[in-house]
Amino acid sequence: MESFHWEQLVEPLLTWYEGHARVLPWREQVTPYRVWVSEIMLQQTRTEAVKPYFERFMAALPTIQDLAECEEDHLLKLWEGLGYYNRVRNMQAAARRVVQEYEGELPADYEKLLSLPGIGPYSAGAISSIAFGLPVPAVDGNVLRVIMRVSADRRDITKQSVRRDVEQMLRSILPTDKVSSFNQALMELGAILCVPNGEPLCNECPWAYLCKAKQQALLSTIPVKRKAAPRRIEKRTVLLIRDGEKVVLNKRPKSGLLAGLYEFPNMTGHLTSAEVLQAVRDMQLSPLYIEKLPEAKHIFSHVEWHMRGYLVQVDSLRISEAQTLFVPFQKLEKDYALPSAFETYRQFLTGLCH
Ligand code: ADE
Repeated sequence: MESFHWEQLVEPLLTWYEGHARVLPWREQVTPYRVWVSEIMLQQTRTEAVKPYFERFMAALPTIQDLAECEEDHLLKLWEGLGYYNRVRNMQAAARRVVQEYEGELPADYEKLLSLPGIGPYSAGAISSIAFGLPVPAVDGNVLRVIMRVSADRRDITKQSVRRDVEQMLRSILPTDKVSSFNQALMELGAILCVPNGEPLCNECPWAYLCKAKQQALLSTIPVKRKAAPRRIEKRTVLLIRDGEKVVLNKRPKSGLLAGLYEFPNMTGHLTSAEVLQAVRDMQLSPLYIEKLPEAKHIFSHVEWHMRGYLVQVDSLRISEAQTLFVPFQKLEKDYALPSAFETYRQFLTGLCH
């Protein structure tokens, strides 16, 4: 049992946050929509990486109505590079519901927010507290880590029961007039001092004098987290099929990994040059020239792609226009959302541009 009272955490945390909160675009101008977009982007992406995406997204789609009506290719392009594209698809599905059911304004109600696509307990808590000042906790990985550490709790943070206990404890100490600052301060402490990798900056921590993990030298042990299953490794072959300054793109199917995004033609396995030439002929194209490209690797949450690449020049006279999408290199940059997995090969094409 901890030898401090949970209430003791509140004041030092709020005081620290007042002096140390980072200046972030979604904190400067707080609206429910901005909080929502920022929280969804921040779920799997670092704050520094999110900033430029956030500004661009808000400039392109300033209202929930704009998001609801945005054409899919444009929406995916705005998200290109952030990964986990279901986040933005769900956001659009939710925006459509908000337009239909709530006249385009997010409801100031935890349960109603929770019922929208892509909004789980954490996001519903964050929007409720930060945008509407409602007294609900918002427990993400940062918050779990700081609470487990300060109380030297060695339970597995991937367990739902642990998260629920933390939520319940936080509910009991939330300062009702400062819920936004309190919730963000907990996240901030985890993001900038009580960091997940490397040494925590205990010298600067407002809880250092009462932290049990620090006292018991458990900072590298806590949080305890069940190991994720190892990622499956998938060999793939990626083809840059080129006709002058144009390249072939395919649109991925409507569901599954990277749904609806564009990609360079690619297939399972590591193909030889001869197999690639055959595959290109099977696409009704006439290869003139083939060159092997560097290998590349991309890590998704559950799978790793180990890619082999080829550049194939095809004969424009024999191009069957109807079936194949040939896109000018420069238009690829501007208009087509291409997953980061293909970045190595895209850069190769950019190098070919003059
Ligand atoms: N991570 C996700 N949302 C955050 C917020 N509002 N403040 C600090 N870190 C965060």
